[in-house]
Amino acid sequence: MTFLYLFLTLALLIFLYLLIFRYKVPWVPIWQKDLDRLNELIELSDNKVFYDLGCGNGRVLFYFAQKYPQVNFIGIELSLILYFICQFRKYLGRYENVKIKLGDYMKTDLNQADYVFVFANQEPMQQIGAKIEKKVHKNLILISYCFEINNWQDFLIKKDKPSPADNIIYIYQYQKKKKY
Ligand SMILES: C[S@@+](CC[C@H](N)C(=O)[O-])C[C@H]1O[C@@H](n2cnc3c(N)ncnc32)[C@H](O)[C@@H]1O
Repeated sequence: MTFLYLFLTLALLIFLYLLIFRYKVPWVPIWQKDLDRLNELIELSDNKVFYDLGCGNGRVLFYFAQKYPQVNFIGIELSLILYFICQFRKYLGRYENVKIKLGDYMKTDLNQADYVFVFANQEPMQQIGAKIEKKVHKNLILISYCFEINNWQDFLIKKDKPSPADNIIYIYQYQKKKKY
């Protein structure tokens, strides 16, 4: 019996490690209450494409996919367990406007993106900004939960923190610089 408990505890620890701690940006979902705040801050247009880079369990994706059936949602997730959780939620909810892709968002082509949502970390956020500047050839709206992109002040259109206890939401309107 003791052996069984030990085995189950070990299995649970491995599961939690794979689920949460394995990557540079661990799985911490956006606060549930902030979904409505996010919805107040952005309005999505029909037939546009919304990416969630590191979509976790799909909290942001499925919330907006239900509100905007005419928008295409793409979630990129590196963790296999979270990817399957999203696929299962997509299947249960019959979301036809949601695609979940297993992979690294740093290697994802964002040239089809109109909106990009990211809840990452300080360092990956700078890398995502640099990647967009280098690889994306169009304008887009980037929404960052908690972390700013240091050299994107010119693109910042909203910074929302209703109270000291709230997390900051940054909204950037990225504009591809013209080469002369
Ligand atoms: C802080 S969580 C945010 C989850 C979700 N976007 C939300 O707001 O609820 C970050 C997620 O990004 C995933 N992740 C980390 N690095 C990644 C990468 N390079 N490519 C794809 N997903 C990644 C993690 O597995 C985790 O699920």
